Amino acid sequence: MDFTLTEEHKLIREAARDFANTELLPGVIERDNKQKFPKELVKKMGDLGFLGLMVDPKYGGSGMDAISYVLVMEELSKIDASASVIVSVNNSLVCYGLEAFASEEQKQKYLTKLATGEFIGAFCLSEPEAGSDATSQKTTAIDKGDHYVINGTKNWITSGGRADVYIVIAQTDKHKGSHGINAFIVEKGTPGFDIGPKEDKLGIRGSDTHTLQFNDVKVPKENRIGDDGSGFRFAMKTLSGGRIGIAAQALGIAAGAYELALKYSKERKAFGTEICNHQAIAFKLADMYVDIEAARHLVMKAAWDKDQGNNYDVSSAVAKLFASKAAMEHTVEAVQIHGGNGFVKEYHVERLMRDAKITQIYEGTSEIQKIVISRNLIKE
Ligand code: CAA
Repeated sequence: MDFTLTEEHKLIREAARDFANTELLPGVIERDNKQKFPKELVKKMGDLGFLGLMVDPKYGGSGMDAISYVLVMEELSKIDASASVIVSVNNSLVCYGLEAFASEEQKQKYLTKLATGEFIGAFCLSEPEAGSDATSQKTTAIDKGDHYVINGTKNWITSGGRADVYIVIAQTDKHKGSHGINAFIVEKGTPGFDIGPKEDKLGIRGSDTHTLQFNDVKVPKENRIGDDGSGFRFAMKTLSGGRIGIAAQALGIAAGAYELALKYSKERKAFGTEICNHQAIAFKLADMYVDIEAARHLVMKAAWDKDQGNNYDVSSAVAKLFASKAAMEHTVEAVQIHGGNGFVKEYHVERLMRDAKITQIYEGTSEIQKIVISRNLIKE
């Protein structure tokens, strides 16, 4: 076992840390207040190669491994989880999905633009009545020979109003259940494809979340990803990688809150000494450190599994389950350590606490991760 990062890993982590501190930090409170999408910053992240980190350079990507991806996600998420979810969805749900499962023509047409940030991607699986129960897709895609006609509603879609390309999961043959589901590439502006109002959210308020409506949307047959009926397995495999990204996001949120709490506790005085010298605070810091270290190891293990070509369905679920719990618990503690100041926006920890919650919900709730883990345990 070798826990040493390569020089390349250290460099990309440093680049992400610099970007987060110099570019993301200055406007993060305002973007959160106003629910402002970081359009210019997304462009800069594209220029830095953060939007197609793992994509082969022949498709315009950075050609890095999953370890690099989680290092970048952790650093960005310490400062701005709204920006990091855009990176995560584009990298692991859209670019990875296309690189692993799309045809060469689809890769040339879409992946080359998504990997550079010229296009932003969205992944549309969730529906009003199919969130955790993802096989119960109500959106239909009817085969009309040379094209499909899509009808239905998708909910809580990250980058929903800003994306150029949408991967849409829909039911083609409901008698076949999960084997009758397909995944399609739908371009923004396709007639009948409408974007609903932006959601007013508790956290990750800078990210752009919408309901999408599909009314008789004609999609050419060449826009179906993979074989007929392969859409559910496509979604599940893609989400396994997505969960590594969200686990790294949760880790970053927890680590960001911990770093702020540690610094504050060394400056703030009460009862004649810095508050870190009180055991009540020191033990909170120790608990945070232990869970963050454990989360980091689990995130790295899942990324390593992906890089090695191992199955990562379970390790990604374990990492997401653990890291998101740590993020929620320890951002609350970071607010507590900050006392009254923790309740004020300028100290950042209240935002990290609000941002943490979604990591226990999206890309599979904590309960879904337990289903994935336990089913695999029982199967073995
Ligand atoms: N890889 C390959 N195939 C898989 C798979 C995987 N990881 N997981 C399941 N499958 C296959 C199964 O083997 C099965 O195939 P067979 O019929 O041939 O055996 C088929 O898919 C159906 O699987 P299940 O019977 O296990 O299906 P289920 O109805 O019990 O559901 C579930 C399984 C794990 C609960 C799944 O529905 C799930 O993951 N739900 C959560 C969905 C989710 O994560 N949504 C997040 C939305 S996206 C988002 O949040 C993005 C964003 O914008 C941030």
